[in-house]
Amino acid sequence: MTTAHISAKKGDIAETILLPGDPLRAKFIADTFLEDVVQFNAVRNMFGYTGTYKGKKISVMGSGMGVPSIGIYSYELINFYGVKNLIRVGSCGAYNEDLKLYDIILGMGACTNSNYAHHYELPGTFSAIASWDLLYKAKQVADQKGIDIKVGNILSSDVFYNANPDAYKKWASMGVLAVEMEAYALYCNAAAAGVNALTILTVSDSLVTKLETTSDERETGFSKMMEIALELA
Ligand code: HPA
Repeated sequence: MTTAHISAKKGDIAETILLPGDPLRAKFIADTFLEDVVQFNAVRNMFGYTGTYKGKKISVMGSGMGVPSIGIYSYELINFYGVKNLIRVGSCGAYNEDLKLYDIILGMGACTNSNYAHHYELPGTFSAIASWDLLYKAKQVADQKGIDIKVGNILSSDVFYNANPDAYKKWASMGVLAVEMEAYALYCNAAAAGVNALTILTVSDSLVTKLETTSDERETGFSKMMEIALELA
């Protein structure tokens, strides 16, 4: 079977998948952490792999950047390939002054400036939230490993280069911890299909302090987040 954007056969993809934004990060994760790896997708160079971690089957695939891209891939993974647990592993920009580079956040809920949920024709505003089971398990794993982790609200923004550099302050005043660009669509697709989703983020830059990591550091520097995510298989 192939879908519009994934060339795998049914069964090639595990019930649990990790979704970094960057397909080369998916390759790095597969090469570094998984055993018995088989590549299941290369359409549009959106590489996807299935392997095992501590004997458990798990997949990893790029989601691309932004709500439309993860909206497409997560929909196909859930509805055409039977994926049940989707864990985004990404980077974010800190909105909160207490967050430092490489701090880890679990996205309990996602706000958005995207219109993604419009197509559900809901008579109000949808609150996109993580799966409680995955969220709770991820927090437990972090605690067991002694990894400090923040849990809270994030913003899935359609805009990376905001015309107003102070726009983030309004979200920050509502307790929103950080900005990324995908969680809201992932949580919507999971909710609509009754499956589980979680977003785990590492702080790659700060809107408050203006500090940032390099893209090389981003590819390899997120091992603590991966330690948590892989245990969710
Ligand atoms: N904005 C949006 N997405 C991001 C950022 C950011 O500053 N950093 C990492 N992902």
